[in-house]
Amino acid sequence: PAVAAAAPDPAKVPDYLAAVKPAGNPEHGDYQANFAMALAKAAGKKPPEVAKEIVAALPATADIEPPTVAGPGFINLKFTSAFLARAVRDLATDERLGLPLAAAPRTYVIDLSGPNVAKPLHVGHLRSTIIGDALVRILRALGHTVVGDNHLGDWGLQFGILIYGYKHFRDEAAFQADPVRELARLYVYINKQFKKADDDDEAPTDDPLKKACQEETAKLHAGGPENLALWKQFMPACLEMLRPIYERLDVKIDHALGESFYNPMLPGIVEDMQAKGIAFESKGAVVIPNAKGIVPRTEEEMKKEEPPAILRKRDGAFTYTTTDLATIRHRADTWQPDAMLYVVGAPQALHFKTLFAQASRWGYDRADYVHVQFGSMLGADRKPFGARKGGVVELMDLLDDAAKLGLEKYEASVADRRENGHKVYEATDAEKREIAEVVGVGAVKYADLSQSRTTDYVFDLDKMTATVGNTATYMQYAYARCRSIFREGDIDDARFRTAPPAVVLAEPAERALVLQLLRFPEAVEAAAADYLPHLVTGYLWDLAKATSVFYEKCHVLKAPTPELRDSRLLLVDLVGRTIRRALGLLGIRVVERM
Ligand code: ARG
Repeated sequence: PAVAAAAPDPAKVPDYLAAVKPAGNPEHGDYQANFAMALAKAAGKKPPEVAKEIVAALPATADIEPPTVAGPGFINLKFTSAFLARAVRDLATDERLGLPLAAAPRTYVIDLSGPNVAKPLHVGHLRSTIIGDALVRILRALGHTVVGDNHLGDWGLQFGILIYGYKHFRDEAAFQADPVRELARLYVYINKQFKKADDDDEAPTDDPLKKACQEETAKLHAGGPENLALWKQFMPACLEMLRPIYERLDVKIDHALGESFYNPMLPGIVEDMQAKGIAFESKGAVVIPNAKGIVPRTEEEMKKEEPPAILRKRDGAFTYTTTDLATIRHRADTWQPDAMLYVVGAPQALHFKTLFAQASRWGYDRADYVHVQFGSMLGADRKPFGARKGGVVELMDLLDDAAKLGLEKYEASVADRRENGHKVYEATDAEKREIAEVVGVGAVKYADLSQSRTTDYVFDLDKMTATVGNTATYMQYAYARCRSIFREGDIDDARFRTAPPAVVLAEPAERALVLQLLRFPEAVEAAAADYLPHLVTGYLWDLAKATSVFYEKCHVLKAPTPELRDSRLLLVDLVGRTIRRALGLLGIRVVERM
């Protein structure tokens, strides 16, 4: 009401209130509002004057200190310690740690991972899998319905390669014994002999081997019984190649309706779009004109204009776009989603932009379409990882390397802590294997998720497994440290969750930590709103920093009074729970001791 009284346009009040942001400098308070500037302009007054009027009109409350006005009209808000102590105590009994359930839950279809099967999984699809899975988890945690769908590339040239390889070069005994392995070998074997490095394009080629593989693909698409039978025979093995990777990444995707699933629908899609006047015949092909309604025909026009989308090529082949339109229709009819998210690399931006426009014109305009795009993963040479010399970098090897390095650093840290006179638990071999895996896979995921999605980033195993800094490893240690305090003091944590003690905020470090703990829902909601998982890692980093200052300034087990000890134990328990929950939203696990 105080803001509404000062606002000439009541419709804008929610925007003003949404602009109340955490204060940059804690000395100014906890939150800061800068709407007085905008309001003053509208009212023809000076901003500090308006700010003072708003502050004067605020109802008296015991939750915030009397607000102050600073500089050009900022309103600074600071919670009272009594409020913070009460709020954090309430948080302790909340299993959701304050995470709200959406008042109006939405249905999301998330297109994630989308590897091209039949070849070893490529790091290029790693980002889609990791970011997509984090978004599934985050949106679900907020109470939305989320359908994950893996749009497998299971119908392209790679099958022509396999079929050709199988027909001409297979080792029958090896195939009988282990089809997955033999198919992987055949793929690599054929692919190596291509004149130009691997790519899936169906473009005309002067490479006779590639041409032969393309012909096998065409026969498959035309329904040739021999190739169709081989495709059916190969598919289980191809999916089997992917399974261990998903398992290791702890990623479960609800559906895997690949390109092949849509194949029978494609002629109908093209006909329907022609009937509705959206697509047209052009020189034997069927195309959708570009956004300006133009089908460029001359060389000149081709250079000037955005190309039209081809639905059916002159040779009768359907395209990626046709399949994606069929996919949209299927998803819309099956799940009636409010939003369809595509977690796919930035190079496909134009494809999705036109696809979404086409789908809307076609009548599928109910859902929000979002291309949740991401940048490339670069090698140390700053070139895209996948395109490095030496060909395909296999993801399994990469995870193995991460786990190995993670374990090495763990052992170094144990030795280091022992040297400094700490008692450190000697993990069993099984526990060490678990630590290696949790740390290694977590490091790779966290490094990916902590980048702002759209930028490229350098894949650097050493940095991502660092034990200090904004890494999974650091957060995992921070979690284990919380747990170790309870073990060391032989304290049952259940009491802090069911009948929490009073919270006493004696030190500024405690106050700052409590404020961070209370901000968890804010961070998760912001991450969900813009599909930005790095807002969750950013939050974790702030929480970890506040926690480390807290340990520095405050004894926990040796706190000066039993009340303070209990109060601090409650905070430590909440830190652990929050870290575990936040990492869980990112698909990253923790161990109880390390
Ligand atoms: N298989 C595709 C690729 O590797 C990604 C699929 C993305 N999803 C989609 N609906 N087009 O480029």
